Amino acid sequence: MSTKAVITGWGKCIPPVELTNADLEKLSDTNDQWIIDRTGIKSRRISHVDGTDLAELAGRRALAAAGLDPKELDLILVASTTPDLICPSVAAMVQDRLGAVNSAAFDLNAACSGFVYATANAAGMIESGFVKKVLVIGAEKLSGVMDYRDRSTSVLFGDGAGAVVYEASEGDAGVLAVDLGADGGKGQTMVLKSMGTNGNVFESLLAEEMALHFEGQAVFKIAVQGIAASVTRVLGTAGFESEEVDVVIPHQANARIVDAATRLLKLDESKVFMNIDTLGNTGAASIPMAISDALDADQISPGDIIVLSAFGGGVTWGSIVLKWGERTERLGHHEGELPPTDATVFDLIEPNLRFFAELHGLDPEDLPS
Ligand code: UT7
Repeated sequence: MSTKAVITGWGKCIPPVELTNADLEKLSDTNDQWIIDRTGIKSRRISHVDGTDLAELAGRRALAAAGLDPKELDLILVASTTPDLICPSVAAMVQDRLGAVNSAAFDLNAACSGFVYATANAAGMIESGFVKKVLVIGAEKLSGVMDYRDRSTSVLFGDGAGAVVYEASEGDAGVLAVDLGADGGKGQTMVLKSMGTNGNVFESLLAEEMALHFEGQAVFKIAVQGIAASVTRVLGTAGFESEEVDVVIPHQANARIVDAATRLLKLDESKVFMNIDTLGNTGAASIPMAISDALDADQISPGDIIVLSAFGGGVTWGSIVLKWGERTERLGHHEGELPPTDATVFDLIEPNLRFFAELHGLDPEDLPS
């Protein structure tokens, strides 16, 4: 039996402040019904702390669930498109905070496909014997770069972090097959020029340059076809028919993208786990947060065949087939929490509203409450 990477711990960190559809109605010509019908999203979270804080707490929770001391880690790998800083990496900062003194650390950016790419890296290094215990984190603070008056993007994205521990195992459980791909020629459909979300990123930058450029319909079509093709390939590599899949955990991009891909693949929709309604699209964080939520909802059982699939900027895509191990209960719990906050959601997004006001012909002092 060959060495495989099996999930032994999982956790997530969602910041407490919500940005509801009703809040967004105050910022642009949108409405609750349109957002729910077209995306499946009712609310998303806006972080009052740095993305690294979210990553650290999700990581601590995953380590506790795995019953691991941070010193046992060989590698920390963080997938993020919105790191606090480009250098040092989020992974290096988390390594320091955890005291994971025996661990290597690096960040990886494949946009919303980041967690799947990171899993492929972790599994490959575990299978080759380079490492044995890896903490993979998906963390995003997308609120750090959003123009909340641009209704074509503001309704979609939220903040959060999810983490998973992969350990070497000689059993039949673990990552079984990987499909990764990219089409850089379509990269201009999603462009984010901002660099780093730490501090006031808007200082000395031009609003018209920094707004997230996003061709929603084009991305929608590429995503549906890309996910369906990638899942078909990865199931073929793993030697499974779609009926043999127990749970599908897709990137939570848009409920309609997932529904359309589910229909194309002729998958049973009751097997597809969704939590987009309360968290929105959290980029690289969405799949590990959904893994944690699916376990809490008892939707994953020992030995289940699970498909992870994502699509994102670049453009990039990736799918994984894995067999869950024997344990679906956490070995331990990390009791730490984020620091509390009294800030309202409009307090938290005030820098964004001021910075992008001129793009909408508005006075930067004209702020909602
Ligand atoms: O994580 C990976 C990257 N992201 C994604 O995967 C997201 C991909 N794309 C999408 O999710 C969808 O394309 C959106 C949610 C962004 C947009 O949904 P859509 O169904 O493609 O809407 P649309 O762009 O075709 O617009 C339909 C109508 C338009 O009005 P007209 O021209 O028909 O009168 C838009 O102006 O809806 C209007 N519209 C809105 N109305 C209210 C667009 N955005 C909004 C809005 N609220 N937020």
